[in-house]
Amino acid sequence: MDSQTVLYGVIGDPIRHSKSPIMLNRAFRETGINGAYGAFHVTPDRLGEAIAGIRALGFRGLNVTIPHKIEVMPHLDEIDESARAIGAVNTVVNEGGRLIGFNTDGIGYVRSLKEEAEPELAGKRIVVVGSGGASRGIVWALTRENPGEIVLVNRTAERARELAASFASSPVSALDWDRLREACEDADVVINTTSVGMSPNVDAVPLDPQWLRPGAVASDLIYNPLTTAFLKQAEGRGCRIHGGLGMFVYQGAYAFEYWTGQPAPAEAMRAAVLESFG
Ligand code: ATR
Repeated sequence: MDSQTVLYGVIGDPIRHSKSPIMLNRAFRETGINGAYGAFHVTPDRLGEAIAGIRALGFRGLNVTIPHKIEVMPHLDEIDESARAIGAVNTVVNEGGRLIGFNTDGIGYVRSLKEEAEPELAGKRIVVVGSGGASRGIVWALTRENPGEIVLVNRTAERARELAASFASSPVSALDWDRLREACEDADVVINTTSVGMSPNVDAVPLDPQWLRPGAVASDLIYNPLTTAFLKQAEGRGCRIHGGLGMFVYQGAYAFEYWTGQPAPAEAMRAAVLESFG
C-alpha cells in the first residue's frame, strides 16, 4: 500500500466473518493492481454517513452486504438494470464521483453454474426451491439464459406466486410445495436457495434428492458446508452437483471486473477463500 493505492471495501452488519477481503486482496495481488480492500462494520443508522465517506475518500468500489443491500439504493446516483430488477445492490462502482449500484449475485451464480456444472441453460427445465431475496437474483439472471421453463416452489406458496408474477414476460411459473416432487422428476437443474442444510443443521435436506433424475444437476447456494447433505445424496443418486462457493467467487469476480476493467483471476480467488477455511 502506498499513496497511489486505490481503495475498496465491503460494508455490512455483522461483517467480521466476511471472506471478501481475503478474496479481493488476492485478486489485486494476482493481477498486480495497486488496490486494497477492507471490511467495514456499518450499522444501519450510519449507512448514509458511510456512503458519504466513500465519496469523500474516493473509494473506487464497494460491496454491500446484509442488512444494507436494499437501503443503500437511495444513497446512490444511478441504479443499473441488474440491481433495479432484483431490487437490491451488492456492488457499487464510483465512476468519477457518481456512485452506480449493480447486483452481481445472480449473474455470479449463473456464471458459476455454467462454468462448473451445466454450460448450456437454453431450453432447460429449471426448478428453484425457495423464494427469498437470494432466489429473486438468481431467477432474474436465469431468465436471461433463455431457459425452457423456470418453476418456483416455496414452502409459503404465495411468495413463489408473487415472485413468478414479477417475471411475467419470461417462462417463469409457480407450483405449490406439495408438487415439488413432480417438478423435480422433470427437471434438468434443481437449485436450493433455502437455508435448509446450512451449518450447523448439516443433515437437513430441502427435498428428497431421490426425486431428481440421474444426470440432472443438483445445485445449492449454501457454501457452509461446501458440500451439503442435499448435494451428497444427489451425487449418490448419479446427479451432477454444484455447490455455493462458486456463486460467492463469481459475484466477487464480476465486481472486480466492473471496478478494474480486467478479467478476474477467479481460480486464485477461489483458492484464497478455500485456504481461509483451513
Ligand atoms: P434469502 O435472502 O437468503 O433468500 P430469505 O428471504 O429469508 O433469505 O428466504 C429464505 C427462504 O428459505 C424462503 O424461501 C423460505 O421459505 P418461506 O418463504 O416459506 O419462509 C425458505 N426456507 C427457510 N426455512 C425453510 C424450511 N425449513 N423449509 C422450507 N423452506 C425454508
